[in-house]
Amino acid sequence: MGDAVAALVDQALVALPTETVYGLAGDAMSPTAVAKIFAAKGRPSTHPVIVHLPDIEFVPLWTEEIPAWAMALAAEIWPGPLTAIVPRGPNVLDAVCGGQSTVGLRVPSHPLTLQVLSEFGGGLAAPSANRYGHVSPTTAQHVLDELGDVLDPTRDLVLDGGRCPVGVESTIVGAWDDTPRLLRAGAVTIGQIAEITGREVSTATDGVRSPGSTAAHYAPRARVVPVETAGLDTAVATVAGAFGLIALADIAPPEADHIRLASPRDDAEYAHALYAALREADDAQLDVVIAVLPPDVGVGHAVRDRLLRAAATGQVTS
Ligand code: TXA
Ligand code: MG
Repeated sequence: MGDAVAALVDQALVALPTETVYGLAGDAMSPTAVAKIFAAKGRPSTHPVIVHLPDIEFVPLWTEEIPAWAMALAAEIWPGPLTAIVPRGPNVLDAVCGGQSTVGLRVPSHPLTLQVLSEFGGGLAAPSANRYGHVSPTTAQHVLDELGDVLDPTRDLVLDGGRCPVGVESTIVGAWDDTPRLLRAGAVTIGQIAEITGREVSTATDGVRSPGSTAAHYAPRARVVPVETAGLDTAVATVAGAFGLIALADIAPPEADHIRLASPRDDAEYAHALYAALREADDAQLDVVIAVLPPDVGVGHAVRDRLLRAAATGQVTS
């Protein structure tokens, strides 16, 4: 723990577990540390990174104009899987905001990372700890597989906090005016946001630059084929050779030769298992993963979103 804080103070990078996915953290006030994050990920400089805070009390250091509804939402959910995109304060680095007028803030709930944050006593810039365009890591081993060759073994660290409980990235909410805008689905649902804020949640993202919310993100090497339950047999019939299958446990295995990559019992288990299952497909050198989409309830909404993006062709973005 002390080592991690010392490394951060020294402008080195520390990969940290959060409840969603592992993040690659550096001092959000240090241009040197933030530049290292972008270099390690191979991420274009125009993509903003989320600032992780020890506590909601730190918010005024990063924004001077957060809407009251957003503070109420954060107070209810934090520490937890919610990122608020708010107007940036005067001291926030341009690189952190990707040159935009807003900054993303979040208080994560993993105990190890909360301890690092509170001992560090400031904001940590931390995108997901994967190479640009890849699947987010949900174990320390995934981080090493992704970034082991680009981290500095004499200075940077990877903290092992076990497998991330949620398994998909935080819900991102645009919070710069009267309307909550869902910019990325996650474990915090539209229903929860509407209930806590008493406001209608907009899902229209036109004109908002949130790079992770565009096509072909979160993709493994294998081709992902998302299907509704009723479409499984048809999808199976079109695949030549062995394929990987991700489906809820109550979905009967097809006759064809396949590897069951995950059999989650509900939407939360699906999210928890998803990224490890996609990595396993690549490790097993499968060409195709058929993913039977979970119902659109709870975090199932975010699982569906990620699977549809993983299947999309086009530009890889973050
Ligand atoms: O669960 C998470 O959010 C994880 C953990 C580590 O906290 N972090 C994460 O970071 O997923 P990243 O950088 O992989 O994805 C953050 C997304 C990106 O798509 C980025 O474009 C968007 O948040 N974002 C960050 N700041 C933004 C801003 N000021 N305006 C619009 N989008 C922003
Ligand atoms: Mg990411």
